Amino acid sequence: MKLLVLNGPNLNMLGIREKHIYGVQSYADLEAFIRAKARQLGVEVEIFQSNLEGALVDRIQAAYGAVDGIVINPAAYTHTSVAILDALKAVSIPAVEVHLSDVTQREPFRQISYAGMACQAHFIGLGFEGYARAMEYLKNHANG
Ligand code: DQA
Repeated sequence: MKLLVLNGPNLNMLGIREKHIYGVQSYADLEAFIRAKARQLGVEVEIFQSNLEGALVDRIQAAYGAVDGIVINPAAYTHTSVAILDALKAVSIPAVEVHLSDVTQREPFRQISYAGMACQAHFIGLGFEGYARAMEYLKNHANG
């Protein structure tokens, strides 16, 4: 089974950005956490981060026929990007939404998730653990 983990804009700034919201661990720490979880589950994982909406759309399209499940934290594009929603729908690969922070308790503009409309499950406000839960979900629910 092969999983693709996609991270959107500013997640590369983890450990620097708004530590009271996103914590002190770095993006490299998050990558190491995801790779360790993949080893534990016995799945292959590819991790991709971009600050560009189109690059995320391109990566979702390239996953067609090549990946069994997508874990996605679209970051700010969660709340704005119909293009990412459409890309997830286009490839119809089982997808799970993750947010480090509890967006349900934050500003009104964070209350809509476009990408989430194409996701089978949502792990929100669990920090890094949300990625682990999403990977477990796909291991159990996606066909690979
Ligand atoms: C985020 C929440 C988004 O609202 C925000 O724009 C992010 C990170 C999270 O993981 O909590 O950049 O997706």
